[in-house]
Amino acid sequence: MTTVEQPPIGFGRMHRKEDARFVRGRGTYVDDVNLPGMLHGAVLRSPFAHARIVSIDTAAAQAHPRVKAVITGQTLDGLKLAWMPTLSQDTQAVLATDKVRFQGQEVAFVVAEDRYAARDALELIDVEYEPLPAVVDARRALDPGAPVIRDDKDGQTDNHIFDWGAGDEAATDAVFASAEVVVAQDVLYPRVHPAPLETCGAVADFDAVTGKLTMWCNTQAPHAHRTVYALVAGLPEHKIRVISPDVGGGFGNKVPIYPGYVCAVVGSIVTGKPVKWMEDRSENLMSTGFARDFHMRGEVAATRDGKIRALRVKVIADHGAFNGTAQPTKFPAGFFHVFTGSYDMEAAHCAVTGVYTNKAPGGVAYACSFRITEAAYLVERMVDVLAYELEMDPAELRMKNLLRPEQFPYPSPTGWEYDSGDYPRALQLALDMAGYAELRAEQAARPPGGPLMGIGISFFTEAVGAGPRKHMDILGLGMADGAELRVHPTGKAVLRISVQSQGQGHETTYAQIVAEELGIPPDDVEVVHGDTDQTPFGLGTYGSRSTPVSGAATAVVARKVRERARQVASAMLEVDPGDLEWEKGRWYVRGDQSQGRTIQEIALASHSSLELPEGVEGHLDATTVYNPPNLTFPFGAYVCVVDVDPGTGQVKVRRFVAVDDCGVRINPMIVEGQVHGGLADGIGMALMELIAFDEDGNCLGASFMDYLLPTAMECPSWELGETVTPSPHHPIGAKGVGESATVGSPAAVVNAVLDALKPYGVRHADMPLTPAHVWRAIQGRPIRT
Ligand code: CDP
Repeated sequence: MTTVEQPPIGFGRMHRKEDARFVRGRGTYVDDVNLPGMLHGAVLRSPFAHARIVSIDTAAAQAHPRVKAVITGQTLDGLKLAWMPTLSQDTQAVLATDKVRFQGQEVAFVVAEDRYAARDALELIDVEYEPLPAVVDARRALDPGAPVIRDDKDGQTDNHIFDWGAGDEAATDAVFASAEVVVAQDVLYPRVHPAPLETCGAVADFDAVTGKLTMWCNTQAPHAHRTVYALVAGLPEHKIRVISPDVGGGFGNKVPIYPGYVCAVVGSIVTGKPVKWMEDRSENLMSTGFARDFHMRGEVAATRDGKIRALRVKVIADHGAFNGTAQPTKFPAGFFHVFTGSYDMEAAHCAVTGVYTNKAPGGVAYACSFRITEAAYLVERMVDVLAYELEMDPAELRMKNLLRPEQFPYPSPTGWEYDSGDYPRALQLALDMAGYAELRAEQAARPPGGPLMGIGISFFTEAVGAGPRKHMDILGLGMADGAELRVHPTGKAVLRISVQSQGQGHETTYAQIVAEELGIPPDDVEVVHGDTDQTPFGLGTYGSRSTPVSGAATAVVARKVRERARQVASAMLEVDPGDLEWEKGRWYVRGDQSQGRTIQEIALASHSSLELPEGVEGHLDATTVYNPPNLTFPFGAYVCVVDVDPGTGQVKVRRFVAVDDCGVRINPMIVEGQVHGGLADGIGMALMELIAFDEDGNCLGASFMDYLLPTAMECPSWELGETVTPSPHHPIGAKGVGESATVGSPAAVVNAVLDALKPYGVRHADMPLTPAHVWRAIQGRPIRT
């Protein structure tokens, strides 16, 4: 275990500042917000996946002595709020008016004096439904005669949402036509849920006197939410304050705007009191943003000796009943077109078709940058499938095809420019750490028919830090982030940023960036975030964008402060600013290091009666808006070792080696924590997580009894390694890391399990590889020796 004695003045291992409150149970989450006179809301949800609403009778609920209001779609219709825009420019019912379109959809909202009365009163609402056939399998959604889910939309006559593609189709087809080897595989990335520990919730407080709405809400994107509320409600932004307090995990689940938030606002307007709405676990799992649900068909063209020449992918994307995906406008399939991964090839093309189904709105980027997990999983499975067919070692096949360091900056066949990397070095390190040759020798020595072992490799490239304004926006909002840095006379500082931590330690790492740039101890830098009245505009935290964008903004604003300090120091030292040199924490006169002033002395002087040269303002405060020139491209090489019991199908992850490169590490301890969490996520998705539905659209994974999450029991002691390839365009050379391990690890685990099943001739099986699934995969298959 590494101990941390002294906080570094800058980058380095440092305990999280926020832990002081978290480990004492002193965090303030939305459910801790209790306002005088506050009422409580509860949502009535549809028991059907698809049904026409014949009538809703709320009389008995309204007569409940502790109920203050019952809101239905009809109430909202009168306020023009029955439908709201989604972040993908679709519409979503706040409360159903005509039909319900997924099981768990919001139908009515009760506001009562306490949570229990609100829930009790839900039972008193009588809804008459006329059930309709449901569309559950996305691959059947476009069949002629499939029930049309979104008949509310003018001109919508089927369940089609979008067709989108990237790459050069003709060039790709040409390579395929002349390829020595073509291998195809259907690969499903099933529907999973981000499942943050804290469910979604809000406290809405509308003040009828000032006309100001204050919204405590555990959103990952407070500013984006405020602007959407302003546009929908027609309120000016300064009349809306969104406060995102401590957040117990988001992972993409807390990016969208959910009907419960809007209902809480309407409840507050109607009753004149603050209204709290907190969903329970089943509501969270059944109705809020799902992830993945990509039905992919991959094809790889290669030479007989294993040089990958092209990749072609067709995808059916299941977006549920409303297209509630949060991703940059230009990219309806997110960043899926990074699917060529880490490999050099002549051409590539992907075609993605998005469809409606009778399921909860899906497609949030669960701990990844907009569908990159799906892309990384696809390509890493395809590489293993090719290795299987060519009877090549998967490590050797990867080494043969990885991009080489001299190819960076690398223009990918689907339009990316990877900023930097040394991929072979990272893979070699992972193989060395794992003892790859010894593992293969152990595997080869196993007698047939006994316990199986498998070795799985994955190599991933992420694209994080959305994003350059010229390429990216969400609902027309550009993705630049602001930062403000105020330095008090005593040299203590306050940094205000637009991103919002959900447990990633921003209060620590952003203070460390200021410390690195200015030499102020991180404990002297307070980081303010999560309150739209207190922080500059920016699009929030998801897709590991915080460090690439707001981290860069922080470095830039600190450098502005440093330049202001130079001017003041020059007045203090009576030398030309050009004659000053910077060392961490002080400006000194070139050639005479003893003649200098610390940043704290300069801060005091900047507030004093010191005469400043013409044109030089007092104080050191600065602001900036950072528009990233490109995304950053972290990458990594993972090796997973599993033991599989062929009698039960039980998989045990024996070892997991993860080499990550996220450029310069601000706080290696936090980076390692981020990687640990993501690796656990990967084990969960590969082996146990699935939101399943029956053929009527009933959700079968609506509790943690059915939706299994990994625990320490399923995780080995992680073996971490690193390489450092600084991002050339990021001011401190950092790349994001929050989601790398979630992106890279599922493929490593699945590849390991399938490597173990190779003697049975199993080339592919879809996640989750539960014991039953693994067992079924090898039944009736003779062992190949
Ligand atoms: O956007 P999000 O905060 O989820 O992801 P991130 O930007 O990758 O950062 C996750 C955490 O790791 C933050 O506290 C970062 O500042 C920290 N980090 C770091 O210390 N060094 C890096 N190169 C990247 C992230």
